[in-house]
Amino acid sequence: MSVTVVETIAELRAALEGRTVALVPTMGALHDGHLALVNRAAELADTVVVSIFVNPLQFGPNEDLDKYPRTLADDLVKLDAAGVEFVFAPSVDEMYPTGPSQTRVTAGQVGTLFEGRSRPGHFDGMLTVVAKLLGIVRPASVLFGQKDAQQVFLVQRMVADLDVATSVEVVPTVREQNGLALSSRNRYLDEREKRAALALSTALEAAQSSGDRGIDAVLAAAQSVLMGENLVRLDYLSVVNPATFLPVDDDYRGRARVLIAARVGETRLIDNELIHLGG
Ligand code: PAF
Repeated sequence: MSVTVVETIAELRAALEGRTVALVPTMGALHDGHLALVNRAAELADTVVVSIFVNPLQFGPNEDLDKYPRTLADDLVKLDAAGVEFVFAPSVDEMYPTGPSQTRVTAGQVGTLFEGRSRPGHFDGMLTVVAKLLGIVRPASVLFGQKDAQQVFLVQRMVADLDVATSVEVVPTVREQNGLALSSRNRYLDEREKRAALALSTALEAAQSSGDRGIDAVLAAAQSVLMGENLVRLDYLSVVNPATFLPVDDDYRGRARVLIAARVGETRLIDNELIHLGG
């Protein structure tokens, strides 16, 4: 295996000295969606660093931190095959040597909506670790998947607000052939739940093809798909302005993003799609 695994900040900084780096931050349990980020990263810089760190700061007390899949050996095989040079896999103590960091990046109003409403503190924890990773690696580019649309919006805003010297690259959601968005949490789904989970992408397609008839038609089209699947419990369905990530008004026209979060059995899934609102 030629991928180098680095566990400490000091070693990583020394190894990256003088290099132009593209960083792919992950929590491991890698799938083809992550590999799409890695492939794009290799087009952007000579050195690709993938971080693998299950960040306790972004999990609530009743969430799946302990259960979150940790598959480092498998992940390394995939990253080695993809030609990645460095994997940064720090321990919790390496990242937070004095306990959970007292200084946090706060995500503001958008951070309290949608995922933030269901997962209070999640986005502050996520932004804080991303800020740390950017400080450690100092990458020319950092890559995120569009599937986590709110995360992408908040990271872009943090980088702009704090004048972080990196370019945020967003890579389209990778889907199974049947439309299911790839997610590390898909592995929690049994076969029946996997079929039911297709309701999310089908609802987004229905929303997309109703865009010309306006927001009410979009919501109704998506809702009717989601309600037709009894293993799916909707958490939220919303249409936001991509520029603000706030819900659009009834008279809004133009590009909009439809967001869905739902529980399929015990597993919480999210998905989103860009649509054009006319009408
Ligand atoms: O999307 C993720 O896997 C995580 O939120 C991230 C960006 C690696 C930060 O922990």
